[in-house]
Amino acid sequence: MKRVVHVVGTGTIGEPLIGLFTDFHDRMGIDEVTFHKRTPLESDRARIGHLMARGAKLATDPDRVNSYENMGHTVSYTSEEALERATVVVDCTPAGNQNKEDFYIKLKGPKGYLAQGSEFGFGKPYARGINEESLVAAEDKFIQIVSCNTHNITTLVKTISDEGEGVYCLDRANFVCMRRANDVTQVEKFVPAPSVGKHDDSQFGTHHARDAHGVFETLGMDLDMFSSAVKLNTQYMHSIWFQLRLTRDMDLEEVVERFRDNHRVATTAKREANLIFSFGRDHGYYGRILSQTVVALPTLVVRDKREVYGFCFTPQDGNSLLSSVAATLWLMEPNWDSVAERLEPLRRWVYQEI
Ligand SMILES: NC(=O)c1ccc[n+]([C@@H]2O[C@H](COP(=O)([O-])OP(=O)(O)OC[C@H]3O[C@@H](n4cnc5c(N)ncnc54)[C@H](OP(=O)(O)O)[C@@H]3O)[C@@H](O)[C@H]2O)c1
Repeated sequence: MKRVVHVVGTGTIGEPLIGLFTDFHDRMGIDEVTFHKRTPLESDRARIGHLMARGAKLATDPDRVNSYENMGHTVSYTSEEALERATVVVDCTPAGNQNKEDFYIKLKGPKGYLAQGSEFGFGKPYARGINEESLVAAEDKFIQIVSCNTHNITTLVKTISDEGEGVYCLDRANFVCMRRANDVTQVEKFVPAPSVGKHDDSQFGTHHARDAHGVFETLGMDLDMFSSAVKLNTQYMHSIWFQLRLTRDMDLEEVVERFRDNHRVATTAKREANLIFSFGRDHGYYGRILSQTVVALPTLVVRDKREVYGFCFTPQDGNSLLSSVAATLWLMEPNWDSVAERLEPLRRWVYQEI
């Protein structure tokens, strides 16, 4: 049986993911990478050509085949054919839930499906290094890769408060997610000035804490978390202010040691988002940092022995890329040791220091 990964969507998440699967397909045990692009645009010709030159095969809707061929692209499959012959479908669109209803639940071929952060309810929420043990082989066919800030928040909480055997020394956690306006790949939705978010959820504040709570819920935990969000007029990176109130004393030394001991956490002496972003551009994969979070060490402080404060940066779409690959490999062969081996080629972009 051929192992085929099919990526739906070629945006900020989809494009690097297609590149990553094609570049490392042999080491990941993938035979073929296909992708679905919906809208034929002259302005997208170069990047679609580039993905195909790496070995990925284009699929599109039947009524768009001619438009793609007129632009010089070879269309290998219709969207339906590509879905049916896929082993794993990775939805990287803001329409994952809709696509699930319209297409995925009717398919017989694929072993599983992933959707991204915005698609709440698509399937079990997952973040690499947080809740692997909650995924059940053959049962969890639909997995939601949580948003980049949810990766960050869950990683902060687990790294600082996990005492082992399912015990977390966390009393309460608060976060302010300072979001970048739009991605550098996007031309719309820039904001001219800081735009503060509403607290739509009286229990969790914004969806960030609610989603993080949902990830820990898959492990049988009910953690007290609250988040606020503000969108900033920058395109660089999301930043997060955090306060973790613990149920036992912890000194700064232990906090730093815990961050340094987690190989999925990058620490940094830098305090400027542009410098972190620039590190990603210079050293990252497709410019992405695959670490779960970048913690600014000079900002850390412990107050009254039990309150940890600090700032960190979110490698937006880098951390969700790593989880997307991990979940895809798990759906193909549900063995986490084997997933870790097949993820080995990506390890060099999971930085421990920036
Ligand atoms: N950007 C991030 O940092 C980030 C991080 C974590 C999670 N996410 C989540 O990941 C998802 C994708 O985000 P993105 O930033 O990659 O979006 P994006 O850059 O806007 O790209 C969206 C892609 O989805 C395609 N698309 C949209 N609706 C579709 C549909 N109904 N059927 C097929 N294709 C469709 C678009 O195709 P055409 O252009 O060809 O029409 C485009 O290729 C969102 O849910 C987002 O919340 C994003």
